[in-house]
Amino acid sequence: MLGDNGIREIAVEDPGSLGVRQHLRHARLDTPPVPVDADGIRVDVLRAQGAPAVLVTPAHQFPTGVVLGGHRRRELTRWADAGGLIVEDDYDAEHRYDRPPVPALRSMLPERVAYVGSVSKLLAPALRIGWMIPPPPYRDAIVEAKRYADLGNAALPQLVLAHLMESGAMERQLRLLRTRHRRRRDAMIDAIGARLPGAVVHGAAAGLHLMVTFDAGFADTDLAAAALARGVKTQPLSWHSRARPQRPGLVLGYAARTATEIAEGVALLGDALRTVR
Ligand SMILES: Cc1ncc(COP(=O)(O)O)c(C=O)c1O
Repeated sequence: MLGDNGIREIAVEDPGSLGVRQHLRHARLDTPPVPVDADGIRVDVLRAQGAPAVLVTPAHQFPTGVVLGGHRRRELTRWADAGGLIVEDDYDAEHRYDRPPVPALRSMLPERVAYVGSVSKLLAPALRIGWMIPPPPYRDAIVEAKRYADLGNAALPQLVLAHLMESGAMERQLRLLRTRHRRRRDAMIDAIGARLPGAVVHGAAAGLHLMVTFDAGFADTDLAAAALARGVKTQPLSWHSRARPQRPGLVLGYAARTATEIAEGVALLGDALRTVR
């Protein structure tokens, strides 16, 4: 649909999700990288780069875990006001541990933001239920594109989701998840402190994963392979980064494992780290 509207490139965060970039490439869009720092995407670089659209993860940047700072939000809003289109991937917004979730950019700028989210990190990725709230001028074209893509999603899981939302069960589930995830996150941070000397933890305030980086000069793909050989699946940070050189790192999910399993897994990662160092 972006292509139909003359948009051939959409800027993405760097580091940023490899999977998302592959999807955009599949839709024949160029994906110029824009660096992310401690406050989120560098809007000055985005402006200088000149792409007409950008895809961002403001609530919890993937993979760094940075939350887009207030000043950057305003800068990004001004960029969009001047004609830019924002695709807001709100993929982790509900999982915020230190304070209430940040409001979506869409709520501030409905005419310039296409908001996307899903139940993948609330209920299960296998449900394949998501939503988009596009800027009004794009709505009809998107409904039509969706129709021609797949004739629509299964109705039954959507009815179940509507029931969970209306009955308050979803809200209760989210409260339970927040407590459970915070415990698992803390277990992972403790285990990293004990078992991964020199690892720096990033992005702990929200989300379902941590990013860790290391100073040592080894390839994070080697570390991930050594961990996998011990039964621990991680993602090397370099998969999600295009800027070189960069520090080696890993993306570690903690939501789906108990605190005991997390401690065991990080201990195995410690073994793997010794071999690659
Ligand atoms: C940053 C980010 N956005 C979007 C997605 C897409 O997830 P889904 O299609 O399951 O909602 C993922 C998947 O892991 C992701 O990491």
